[in-house]
Amino acid sequence: MKNLLASAAACGGVLVLGIALPCASTAATAAGDAVAGKATFTANCASCHQPGAGPYAGKTPAELTAAIQGIESGSIKHSKKIGLNATDIANVVAYIAPAAK
Ligand code: HEC
Repeated sequence: MKNLLASAAACGGVLVLGIALPCASTAATAAGDAVAGKATFTANCASCHQPGAGPYAGKTPAELTAAIQGIESGSIKHSKKIGLNATDIANVVAYIAPAAK
């Protein structure tokens, strides 16, 4: 929670105004907590994925979110059932998206 609040304080206002100031890598994904996302990713995804590599390369945060949601809903085929809730997805995207740019 502390991290979430910290990143909201650093970037949230910027996002609300819609001004693309260089607000580190969390600007596009202020809803997610990259630190929590790293923990989730390391536990569930890192055995097969690296941030910013493979299927993540070049994807925007929105595309990554859509892809993971698609995996969750079953509309995108994936070799493993991943079982992330919406918060987990936002956090994981906050972690992997910066490297995907
Ligand atoms: C058992 C191995 C494995 C694990 C664990 C795994 N994945 Fe994957 N994932 C794959 C493979 C294989 C592909 C498709 C091959 C490729 O493109 O590299 C893939 C593809 C994806 C894609 C791209 C889907 C698309 O078609 O656009 C996303 C997003 C993704 N995984 C997210 C995750 C997330 C998030 C986790 C952890 C919660 C996770 N994966 C865990 C093996 C895994």
